[in-house]
Amino acid sequence: MTISFDLTFDNGIRHALCTALSGACSASAIFVPARFFDSSNPFLGSCFLLVECKPSSKHALGHAQKEVTVEGRTYKTDEWMNTPPTILSSIARRLHVQPDHPLNITRQLIQSRFPGYKTHNELFPIVSTHQNFDSLGFPPDHIGRSRTDTYYLNKETVLRTHTSAHQADTFRANETEGYLITADVFRRDAIDRSHYPVFHQMEGSRTWDRKTAEKDGKTLAQVIWDDVAKIPKHDINVEDPNPPHHAARNPLQDTHTADEVEAIAAHLKRSLEDVVVAIFSAAKTASDAGGPSADEPLQVRWVEAYFPFTSPSWELEVFWQGDWLEVLGCGVVQQSILTNAGVPDRVGWAFGLGLERIAMLLYSIPDIRLFWSTDARFLSQFSAASPMKRFVPFSKYPACFKDVSFWLKTSSSAAGGAGHVAPLTSAAPTIAGHAFHENDVMEIAREVCGEVVEDVRLVDEFVHPKTGRKSLCYRINYRSLERTLTNEETNGLHERLRRQLVEELGVELR
Ligand code: DAH
Repeated sequence: MTISFDLTFDNGIRHALCTALSGACSASAIFVPARFFDSSNPFLGSCFLLVECKPSSKHALGHAQKEVTVEGRTYKTDEWMNTPPTILSSIARRLHVQPDHPLNITRQLIQSRFPGYKTHNELFPIVSTHQNFDSLGFPPDHIGRSRTDTYYLNKETVLRTHTSAHQADTFRANETEGYLITADVFRRDAIDRSHYPVFHQMEGSRTWDRKTAEKDGKTLAQVIWDDVAKIPKHDINVEDPNPPHHAARNPLQDTHTADEVEAIAAHLKRSLEDVVVAIFSAAKTASDAGGPSADEPLQVRWVEAYFPFTSPSWELEVFWQGDWLEVLGCGVVQQSILTNAGVPDRVGWAFGLGLERIAMLLYSIPDIRLFWSTDARFLSQFSAASPMKRFVPFSKYPACFKDVSFWLKTSSSAAGGAGHVAPLTSAAPTIAGHAFHENDVMEIAREVCGEVVEDVRLVDEFVHPKTGRKSLCYRINYRSLERTLTNEETNGLHERLRRQLVEELGVELR
């Protein structure tokens, strides 16, 4: 059966429609087309949605779909497919380029600190596992490749889990010395006020050409230090207690000298400190505009880190409202990535940061779901042209929590409890076939409840002393950001959620 719709709708309706369709039938193909924006209202789009339904009880988390077309590109799906239509439909939103959207304003603020860097804001989110993992040196058994953590369309195709997926291609294109990539990224994850399965990252990189330095009669380190001198100075308090590299904890690569890494690290750290100063001065302006705020000096610190694609590596943390907040990851690019990308003489750094986290503190936005709101009470509060102002919550609607308790299937309780990760095998197990993973509960909650689930938390867990069966209890917090939910509505959602847990995970309700 094929159903075609030609309709004008806002994205709330798009989400609702996709959720309804995924519940009502098993779509063998769902076409999520490119949007045509109505210039008077960027959140209204006219769109053609074609859904083919097959009589099957398999949910989108299963694998009844045969192919999927997203904005004109068609992908064969297989037993690795675990991407629900609601996630695919979010691709069209492109929040980071919507006029006056807080993520867009945040992006532009950061971009403005990197003059001359080429910006990429339209890179397509569906990438190969090679781009997302292999090209960056992720080992074959890395946990990030798991179906419980990553959205797959098929064994070799995923929704990018980070903007680093485009590093190798951007190095290969070799258009500019510096670049910035901003994009939506996708991860199966917990549900709470700071996690949403789709969020936005910015990737940045700056490289130098060893051969050009030699031709100019300089060492690579000298050339880089000359560029360090061009970065604006700041007077903030930076803690950086560790040496630029450490043989055991944060090693130099064979292809780099200590002098080179010191210069690269200095350029990287100074560039990113400059970004932090810009962000936190703006945040201060915003919070001053929203009322009194403590006038604390900005404090930042560098900590050693590990990423498969950089060495040495660091994270930058900022002291904000009483806590050290991790703002970004970065490091010296693994030379093998540049060599494999056909630019073996280039040497440099890369960083990646999450835009939502920064925008949330810039504007005091309390819940990550708000970024997806099409409610004018949210959107009208942000303007690229006016000074930054703190977000004023338009209302706090009541929350209502409900618990669901269930016994795991005997096989999965033996294999491990909440948080257990199924081993990666070449044959992708079906969702009900692999060991229980909490992210599957999260995915089902999102699919059934959409934006009205605020938080899902494990509140109780025990193993029956006689049978050895494991029981889990999750607390689902229901709250809409835009209206008061009725009792009937939350009861209905909770009942559907309970049924779906049984159907998809094979658990037994208690
Ligand atoms: N891709 C990393 C993540 O998603 C962030 C990151 C860390 C990007 C270090 C980088 C980097 O380019 O050098 O967590």
